[in-house]
Amino acid sequence: MKEKGNQCPGKGSALFRNWIGILGVVLTTGGLVAVLCMIAFDFFAGFSHPYLGVLTYLVLPGFIWGGLMLMGAGIWYDRRLRKKATPAECPALPLIDLNNPQHRRNLIMVSAGAVLLLLFTAFGSYRSYQVTESVQFCGALCHTVMQPEYTTYQNSPHARVRCTECHIGPGASWFVRSKFSGMYQVYAVATNSFPRPIPVPVKNLRPARETCEECHWPEKFHGATELFHKHHATDEANTPWSIRMLIKVGGANPIHGPVGGIHWHMIVANKIEYIPADDSRQTIPWVRITNRSEGRVAVYESEGNKLKPEEKADSIRVLDCIDCHNRPTHIFQSPDQALDIALWLNRIDPSIPDIKMKAAKALVGSIAAPSQDEGIRQVAETLQKEYSDFEYPQKVRQAVAETQEIYRNNFFPEMKTSWKERPDNIGHRMWPGCFRCHDGSHFTKDSHVISKECNACHTILSQGHEPASNAVDLAGLEFEHPGGEISEGTLCSECHTGAP
Ligand code: HEC
Ligand code: HEC
Ligand code: HEC
Ligand code: HEC
Ligand code: HEC
Ligand code: HEC
Repeated sequence: MKEKGNQCPGKGSALFRNWIGILGVVLTTGGLVAVLCMIAFDFFAGFSHPYLGVLTYLVLPGFIWGGLMLMGAGIWYDRRLRKKATPAECPALPLIDLNNPQHRRNLIMVSAGAVLLLLFTAFGSYRSYQVTESVQFCGALCHTVMQPEYTTYQNSPHARVRCTECHIGPGASWFVRSKFSGMYQVYAVATNSFPRPIPVPVKNLRPARETCEECHWPEKFHGATELFHKHHATDEANTPWSIRMLIKVGGANPIHGPVGGIHWHMIVANKIEYIPADDSRQTIPWVRITNRSEGRVAVYESEGNKLKPEEKADSIRVLDCIDCHNRPTHIFQSPDQALDIALWLNRIDPSIPDIKMKAAKALVGSIAAPSQDEGIRQVAETLQKEYSDFEYPQKVRQAVAETQEIYRNNFFPEMKTSWKERPDNIGHRMWPGCFRCHDGSHFTKDSHVISKECNACHTILSQGHEPASNAVDLAGLEFEHPGGEISEGTLCSECHTGAP
């Protein structure tokens, strides 16, 4: 027996008889040691940088698995080389004899190694899942690409909601889908072939009822919410003008109060469908409402509509949360909005003459800067020149710093992204928004119209220059437009574009 054993291959490890196996051993051990160090670091320090998580749970395990595969290939190659030289009576596979203490030891070691590797893989997969689902991974890894969305997200009401809760939602099928589209995105970043700006609306966004409604369910809303805006005119005095109104959010559940108001659209018994005429869904010539409880179906069309639902059946959309709340978290403020807030809160001193107009022009003038840093610098340069002989340099310095901050939070020239590329469908002042349908010119065949009545959606409680605007009239006021008479058919957004 003994002599025969000696002629059979198996003395010494097949792993170390060729370079493939040796490389495998080196990669696996190196990878393991590195990962163990990083995991210890993860436990004690906690990761804050997205690259570290990716390295530990995605890249290094790749080395370990690659190493293991090379080890397998090394053994296989070794066998092939020796096959011819091996006597026929030698067993094809290694013999394990549990009475042999050497074999027992080897078996225990190999099994322990396998169990450890399994545990390690389970932990690693769990962490790699966590890492790829993290806000850091989605928002900060491909820094430049996601910078606009990540920055605006951090300043939004949803800053503590993870990206994946809106973009992927629960369940395995969307998880897998997101990983596939993620792989394409990695490719697009690697080859620098991603679009700038990222086009909106997002075509294959998961339906809102499976994401938003996990936290806000449509039956929940009721009542009205107060809205207070303080605006400043673009005149020398930056004249303030404020408006306070009740927005009739309404609700859809009779258990909590009357059904109606704006969220009436979301009543489960109603279905509103529409066909957009353009990719950005800013023009809506055809709307159909189906009221299941009344058994009523009505089609509203804008004057001169040529879109035929029969020809456009696959572009019919059912209205959901995103059709109004398309900017719940990636909110890009226009110069007008951002400066109004800065002036209101005195972060920019309203006593500086013409500051709203000049700051807005500085922002818009730097919109096409080669980089954000350069844009921020240009803003300062322009404004400082404008106010070089103003008597209070300290006020100017603060106004400059604040305007730069507005640029940093809302303008992303590398991605060609700012408020201009991101329509917001709530309201109707800067974008058509509600007036895409409620413009007073969508009719049924029997001349029923989708209401443009100013009190349908809100009641104005007070308006005007301060301090008179603090008096509140609960009966509701007629709107007084500070910019003069508005003709019937003009939309607010035709004049109010977000910047002078
Ligand atoms: C509260 C829900 C919510 C969260 C949280 C959220 N998003 Fe979004 N995101 C949206 C919606 C809704 C849209 C679709 C806008 C559209 O179609 O017009 C969107 C669009 C986008 C777009 C397309 C470009 C754009 O500006 O519309 C990108 C990129 C994006 N999100 C990335 C992220 C990243 C990265 C995070 C986490 C840092 C994140 N999102 C977190 C709701 C969310
Ligand atoms: C994981 C839970 C969660 C998800 C998912 C979520 N939200 Fe929210 N949302 C919140 C919380 C919490 C707040 C309250 C934030 C606050 O008041 O500070 C909020 C606030 C809001 C508000 C009020 C914002 C404001 O200015 O006060 C709107 C509108 C809103 N969400 C819409 C959406 C839409 C649309 C989606 C889907 C794209 C969505 N939410 C997804 C948790 C969520
Ligand atoms: C027809 C447009 C429209 C649709 C559809 C719609 N909303 Fe709203 N929602 C509004 C308006 C307008 C407000 C008032 C707040 C404002 O003006 O920003 C509002 C307010 C809210 C608020 C804040 C409530 C409060 O009391 O402050 C939340 C949260 C919200 N909506 C979530 C949703 C969710 C979730 C859906 C989908 C189930 C949805 N909305 C569908 C228009 C809409
Ligand atoms: C896709 C078209 C569309 C858009 C966009 C839209 N609506 Fe409507 N809305 C309708 C239709 C259709 C009706 C019902 C008309 C009818 O009575 O047949 C309606 C009805 C309403 C009503 C009356 C509900 C009641 O109590 O009778 C309110 C309030 C309302 N919408 C508010 C809004 C607000 C606010 C927005 C913007 C945030 C908005 N809508 C955006 C189509 C739209
Ligand atoms: C279909 C619903 C709807 C109709 C009809 C409507 N509004 Fe509004 N309006 C809104 C909503 C929603 C907002 C709040 C937007 C926001 O959250 O900033 C708003 C905001 C406003 C504001 C405040 C703008 C700001 O930025 O301070 C004014 C002023 C206003 N509406 C005037 C009018 C006038 C005048 C009419 C009649 C011609 C009218 N609205 C008709 C839904 C409507
Ligand atoms: C024909 C153009 C035009 C139309 C249409 C128009 N506005 Fe204006 N609006 C102006 C001008 C001009 C001013 C003064 C702007 C300034 O001094 O900066 C103004 C001022 C305002 C202000 C005061 C804040 C500010 O920016 O000065 C509000 C609020 C406002 N408009 C709301 C509306 C609403 C709501 C609608 C639609 C119902 C509307 N406007 C339609 C031209 C228009």
